Amino acid sequence: MALITLFSAAGAPGTTVTALGLALAWPRPVVLVDADATGASTIMAGFLRGQTAYDRGLLDLAMAARVGTLNTAIATTTLTLPGSTVEFLPGIRGHQQAPSVAGLWEPLSGVLRSLEQQGTDVIVDCGRLSTVGAPLPLVRASDLALLCTRTTLPDIAGARSWARSLVDEFADMGAADRFGLALVDEGNPYTAREIRKALGAPTFLSLPWDPQAAGVYHHAAERRGKLSASKLGRALTAGANSLVQDIARNRAKLGTNLSQEGRQHV
Ligand SMILES: Nc1ncnc2c1ncn2[C@@H]1O[C@H](COP(=O)(O)OP(=O)(O)O)[C@@H](O)[C@H]1O
Ligand SMILES: [Mg+2]
Repeated sequence: MALITLFSAAGAPGTTVTALGLALAWPRPVVLVDADATGASTIMAGFLRGQTAYDRGLLDLAMAARVGTLNTAIATTTLTLPGSTVEFLPGIRGHQQAPSVAGLWEPLSGVLRSLEQQGTDVIVDCGRLSTVGAPLPLVRASDLALLCTRTTLPDIAGARSWARSLVDEFADMGAADRFGLALVDEGNPYTAREIRKALGAPTFLSLPWDPQAAGVYHHAAERRGKLSASKLGRALTAGANSLVQDIARNRAKLGTNLSQEGRQHV
């Protein structure tokens, strides 16, 4: 159904935890992509405890794109996250590999979007947007592009320039509804309404501060009880369902606009 990208502007607001948590809570089949151009490999090192062989990933797709087999290569380049049905596509292993995947983002966005024909959604962790080699083509091709930030004054100041330029860019594409914010620890101290005034962008997802549960997503910290029953886990489930509805609503609106344009042209 959809391509959803998550990214940060500054600091480490919780982009990877949010992307992974959403994928694990997603109500439909989903592929999670690590497109962080720093090569931090947070999910391989953290949630997977560095215990999964790093024998596939974006570099394989870059090779496949060069020989024209990108369409079929995705299925053999993902691994299933333990205890879930999430298919995970590992990223690059260091910043030196970023130039090798720079030409991949454009063709990959087309291939990822086409996965919806199989009923599969895609969530991409794009890392920090100012990183050299960041996957901006994926952001622009998203059904929903979410800038992840916390809500203190320095966080808002750090998010401002990317928020403003993306608001303009999506508006120029006639897709203003496809860009917004994912807030971590909303209300501490600023609320979504206040941040909308400052950044000019709406909030699509608001997650609570829950260091214990976040530690499980981030570095497989020990936990008693089900992750999905934690404060963060419950918010992620509710958030995933509401994002699915937001995307469906945007698409329905787009369909109505297109059919109205069609009628005007008749
Ligand atoms: N909702 C949350 N509540 C508490 N801590 C969080 C939350 N989300 C992320 N964190 C913590 O923030 C730190 C950075 O998270 P991470 O997802 O790696 O950020 P980023 O990908 O933006 O660099 C980690 O220590 C993680 O456990
Ligand atoms: Mg990250």
